[in-house]
Parts: sequence; C-alpha cells; structure tokens
Amino acid sequence: MLPGFPVSRPRRLRARRAIRDLTAGTHIAVSSLMLPVFVDERLKVPVSIEALLGHQYYPPESSELVELFTEALNLGVKSFLLFGVPNVKDDKATRAYADDGPVQKALRNLRRELGWEPVIATDLCICNYTSQGHCGLVSKCREGLCVDNDSTLEVYKKIAVSQAEAGADIIAPSGMMDGQVAAIREALDDAGYHNVAIMAYSAKFASNFYGPFRDVMDSSPRFGDRSSYQLDPRNAWDAIREIYLDVMEGADILMVKPALPYLDIIRLVKEKIDYLPLAAYNVSGEYMAVELLSRQGYADKAGLMMEILYSIRRAGADIIITYHALEAAKLLQGVSA
Ligand code: PBG
Repeated sequence: MLPGFPVSRPRRLRARRAIRDLTAGTHIAVSSLMLPVFVDERLKVPVSIEALLGHQYYPPESSELVELFTEALNLGVKSFLLFGVPNVKDDKATRAYADDGPVQKALRNLRRELGWEPVIATDLCICNYTSQGHCGLVSKCREGLCVDNDSTLEVYKKIAVSQAEAGADIIAPSGMMDGQVAAIREALDDAGYHNVAIMAYSAKFASNFYGPFRDVMDSSPRFGDRSSYQLDPRNAWDAIREIYLDVMEGADILMVKPALPYLDIIRLVKEKIDYLPLAAYNVSGEYMAVELLSRQGYADKAGLMMEILYSIRRAGADIIITYHALEAAKLLQGVSA
C-alpha cells in the first residue's frame, strides 16, 4: 500500500461509544418530545388500548392520569397532546365543546392537581364525536353528501374556546378544513385567550398509517374517506401551500404528519419557514410497526425507536409528537426502562 493511504480513516470517529457520542451530529432534547394521551369519559378505571400496545385510556378525573403526567414530568417530558373519547356521538359533536366533556374535565383536573407545569395541547377535531366519523359536518350537496367546510369552522370555534377555558395551552386543529387556523385564532382572541397558541396540523396527509388511531378513537369515516380534506401523498406542493396559509392565518407551531413517509416534507418546510417551530407527528401506524416488529423478535426496540426519532429530528423537526415519548426519554436520560 502507498504510504499515507487510505488518506482518510472515517472509522477513527466510530471506534467507541464515547467518541461516537462526542461527534454525534443530531441530538434530541427530552423536552422536545410530546406525548399523546387518551381520556375516555365512560371509564372509571384505566383500560389498555389494544391498538396502541403499552398505552391506556384514562378516566378524565382519575388519579392515574395525574400519575402518568407526573411520571412524564419527572422524566423531562413536559408536553402532552390530549384526545377525548365521548360517552355519546351525535351529528353536532356536542361532547367536543361541552363544559363537562372528556377533554375539558381532564384539563380542569390536571390544572387543579399539577398547576401550569405541564404544557397541554388539545387535539381539535370532531371525527370521533360525530356518528358519521368525518372531521367536519356532513350535509347534502350537489354530488350527494359532502363535508361542509364553513359550518364546521363554527363548531371548531366553540371547541377551541371551551378547551381554552378549561386550561389548554395549545389548540391543535387536525381536521384540515380550509381557514381553520384563522377561524380559531379569531374565536380565541374574541374570548380573550390571546396567549393560547395554535399548533396547526398544517400538512396532514391522507395516510394509511392512521389505522391504529382510528381503532383507538372509533373514528373511521362511516362513508367515503378523508381525501377531500387531507393531502394527497403525491403532493409536496400542496404541503407547502398549506404551510404558507397557516403561517398567514396565525399559526404558532406548524406540523407535518405522518413523519416517516414525509421526511422530505419536514425538511422542505423547515428550509422554507425558518421562523416558526416545526412539529412532526410520529403516528400510530409508525408506532405499532416498531412495537410489532420488536415483539416478533425482528428488531431491537430501543434501536428501532431511536433510529426513527433521530431521522425525524435530522430531517428538521423541532418537536416530535410520539407514543414512544416516555420510553425515549428513559433512554435519553439513561434511566433503565
Ligand atoms: C384526525 C386525527 C388523525 C390522527 C389524529 N387526529 C387521523 C385521522 O383519523 O385522519 C392520527 C394520529 C395517529 O395515527 O397517531 N382527527
């Protein structure tokens, strides 16, 4: 071999764990992980969620819910995304904005017990509060039945104000109706909630990775699908359009969802909008893929989970919403899981 060859030896920096840690190019702060939490007003005790292995539904006012939050806070996970399961569904999604709805009750209970330490975001949608399972109100139209945009915004406004009243820090509209961020901003401001932020599910694609979640929430559309409001997976252009609209409408945090099949979109959005935080939602199907692969013995769970979370971070996400938040936090903090 010629003296001095090979010229460069990249393996030097890979030799030991400590030197790999020293030269690591991507880091995840535990405080950037957001944990989704499900509260079900029909329950008296927590119940395991089959479609999200390792997770539970919580009664809104239970001590177990407070304990979950406390455990997360102790691990450094300080932010949460609340989803509510109602005791009845109807055409108007009444339980979504009821003063004693599942999310509202949980919020009041958590604020009573934990004060303002946790950052609590609330998902704002009506798919699991209505009998028809769509993210908007359904009415007759020329073509048959349609999800009606503007009447839905009126319902969204009521939900936003009621969630803010109950103690939400961040409202997260996930229904993909046109103008939803502007409508909610106006409603919040009119009600005096200037400091309640909006995390917009801006680029939410019509994805097959939502399967487990729809089982969890019993929120599959009872007819048709969500392609008339969620984005077509082929279209990066539509994601950028939605992002710009949400910026103009006053969103405080932008979001791309799901994460893994849309890492290119995360990167694109981060490059275009470098003045707002960007969240990525590592969704239920992505979570269950990790759980099932590792439970079947095909993958090391910690390895698979962290590889995925680092890919999302590396793509440019500032905030990662993940069902693995607590397990990832334990690994990152060096607490044995
Ligand atoms: C819609 C909503 C969805 C998710 C959260 N809110 C998707 C859908 O049903 O279209 C998906 C979250 C996940 O899969 O983890 N309200």
